[in-house]
Amino acid sequence: CGIVGYVGPRPSQDILLSGLARLEYRGYDSTGIAVISDDGELQMRKRAGKLQVLRDDLTAHGMPDGTTGIGHTRWATHGGPTDANAHPHLADHDRLAVIHNGIIENFAELKAELVAEGFTFRSETDTEVAAVLLGREFTASGDLVEAFRAVARRLEGAFTLLAMHRDQPGVVVGARRNSPLVIGLGEGENFLGSDVAAFVEHTRRALAIGHDQIVTITPGGVEVTDFDGAAVEAEPFEVHWDASAAEKGGWSSFMAKEVSEEPEAVANTVRGRVHDGQVVIPELEGLDDLFTGIRRIIVVACGTAAYAGQTGKYALEQWTRIPTDVELAHEFRYRDPVIGEDTLVVSISQSGETMDTLMAVKYAREQGAKTLSICNTQGATIPRESDAVVYTHAGPEVAVASTKAFVAQITALYLLGLHVARLRGSLDADAAAQAVAELEAVPEKIQLVLENEQQHIEQFSRWMADTQSVLFLGRHVGYPIALEGALKLKEISYIHAEGFAAGELKHGPIALVEPGQPVFVIVPSPRHSGELHKKVVSNIQEIRARGARVIVVAEEGDAAVLPFADEVLRIPLADPLFEPLLAVVPLHIFAMGLSTAKGLDVDKPRNLAKSVTVE
Ligand code: G6P
Repeated sequence: CGIVGYVGPRPSQDILLSGLARLEYRGYDSTGIAVISDDGELQMRKRAGKLQVLRDDLTAHGMPDGTTGIGHTRWATHGGPTDANAHPHLADHDRLAVIHNGIIENFAELKAELVAEGFTFRSETDTEVAAVLLGREFTASGDLVEAFRAVARRLEGAFTLLAMHRDQPGVVVGARRNSPLVIGLGEGENFLGSDVAAFVEHTRRALAIGHDQIVTITPGGVEVTDFDGAAVEAEPFEVHWDASAAEKGGWSSFMAKEVSEEPEAVANTVRGRVHDGQVVIPELEGLDDLFTGIRRIIVVACGTAAYAGQTGKYALEQWTRIPTDVELAHEFRYRDPVIGEDTLVVSISQSGETMDTLMAVKYAREQGAKTLSICNTQGATIPRESDAVVYTHAGPEVAVASTKAFVAQITALYLLGLHVARLRGSLDADAAAQAVAELEAVPEKIQLVLENEQQHIEQFSRWMADTQSVLFLGRHVGYPIALEGALKLKEISYIHAEGFAAGELKHGPIALVEPGQPVFVIVPSPRHSGELHKKVVSNIQEIRARGARVIVVAEEGDAAVLPFADEVLRIPLADPLFEPLLAVVPLHIFAMGLSTAKGLDVDKPRNLAKSVTVE
């Protein structure tokens, strides 16, 4: 879910709505806002559906404006996406409004307690329980902060809660446990947001707050305390994102814009981290200890970020000679893994807020492992919970399906690999210099893929609009790319798609191949890995013999694939470890093309949210 809060001199409705527009990637099942109007009344409007439904409602049936307000965009957990379950939730005779992100695990028992006291409920949400509790405590103390302190101690689970009360205009109070919340500092106005996107068009000065803390914003100031009321110093940071970077510009979708930014995402991630041909990551300066005595690396992540991890594993192992495993964060956390101080747990997360990944990092720390976060969002929770962070500089990613962050994540892993290899002396200087040169050449090569193949792919994706199922095959580093290609298609085109290791085909999946079945094959370069290339060409023949429609992604000049391919998508020459950064680009374009051809919402696929802050 996405959360925004405002206090200041300006009417807040537009500020809340534009903040929500930037947060909509966090969920878009329903949206709502509440303001304390200038005549001192609490006004609220909420609707099931995307933000536009709420906007239309407000245009059709206006609502008095006010200078204190909160807004919410929801990804449903407790209770379906209906008007009643949308946030804000009201309590204390509709004088108190509350919004929430997270899951209150003991809500059923709290609700029973409140029902026994005679309180009634209008929704099925856990949030309304917190609202009613806050209302009860406010009646007792007459102060929102005090009410929050009492309530926060009783809630179990993860939450960010924001509230305002008609009797305290000019005040928004928030509490946070494990769910995200940041403060935006303006001139005579202040903001709260799930992340900086909520307020970056108004201010770039921000404060990060920790867990189990309560924040109060007024037009003139910000106060942070722990749940017991002791003052806490919040950590200031400057937002580097440009507000316009989070806007669509002239593009048909955020995803189209973000795919076009893949070259920059790689270039910006490399920038400032190569000195005299060697990788030196400034953020890791003074942290050499983190890498001494490491006998094992475990990469934890979810979704696309996990595929970035699987791709990076090959380079990490090859360059550092440290055994590296990649694991889905939610699986890792619950299987009692054998880890300790000789383990470096590298988490990858675009948002830095994915609860599954956060919990894996916390668990790793508890077990004594060292933790390093690869993250795209400043001030996010996962980097703050880790011993070190290497930021990807992909810029804000808004489309739910991750694209530019994916290439930036692989880039960051490669930089990390080269940094650690330098410290350990595990890679000879020439090979390291060659790798750096390859990495630096990637942005230009991605640009070539975009220029040469985009139209072609868009065209054949239109022809394939009725396709029911698509398979993706790859070997070695091409394998995680096949998985990523399939995931992207599932996410935004809603069709069955699966990625396989090409060698595994004959052990089962080949039974799926029938005449006309489209199969993408990522073909490794024949120049570096003749053996592998031959094997993949044989795999192509096997599926071709069964009538598959073969679409190959192969490097320029590879003629061996021509006799067996229905479509050939070309990528420039690169060393094998760098091919994934190029081969994934046509797959991103294809998923986008197919989704568009089917008339779907490319940026906001059904049922998904970009940042899933529940386990
Ligand atoms: C969600 C998104 C995926 C994303 C995953 C990890 O499930 O829908 O697109 O890959 O989270 O997100 P993160 O922010 O941790 O990279």
